[in-house]
Amino acid sequence: MERGKSNIVLIGFIATGKTSLARELARVLNRRQVDSDELIEAREGRPVRDIFEVYGEKAFRDLEKEIIGEISQLEDSIISTGGGVCLDPENIEALRKNGILILLESDIETLRERIDPTRPIMKSKEKLEEMIASRRDSYQRAADIRVDTSDRSIEDIRDEILTRLNLEGDKNEFNLGR
Ligand code: S3P
Repeated sequence: MERGKSNIVLIGFIATGKTSLARELARVLNRRQVDSDELIEAREGRPVRDIFEVYGEKAFRDLEKEIIGEISQLEDSIISTGGGVCLDPENIEALRKNGILILLESDIETLRERIDPTRPIMKSKEKLEEMIASRRDSYQRAADIRVDTSDRSIEDIRDEILTRLNLEGDKNEFNLGR
């Protein structure tokens, strides 16, 4: 039993389905859902992309860290995170105190289909591959559970997560079955 941990935290690369799945899990489990990028945008009053462009990545990461520190204190919540959150070990440590970290992974073809083609990361296939490779270890080290989200429906992935957390029915405590 993972006593004391009541948040489900979705981590992983851009476009692996974190926000959509968080919404779906929150709906079926009747829990609050929060998304780090949405909170940053609400606080700053501008899109993440603008924050990157106007203030630079460092300022964005500082804001992100502040938000992660705050949402890590929540309970019984489904938290979706921006793709860069788990590159900072302090973010992982904070999220882990109250949460099980679920890494969503998709193959590169699926990512290329899903990522908005105007995003800077989509400039070249090599750049995307490089970024995925450079982040793989950090993601995997942070993960309690890894789930493949390539070419699968939200419902199918949702059910796998619920089964692996032993959260079917109205149970409220995780059991990772380890
Ligand atoms: C980022 C991913 C984005 C967002 C920002 C930086 C990253 O979130 O936080 O653009 O470094 O991977 P999504 O993973 O929700 O797209």
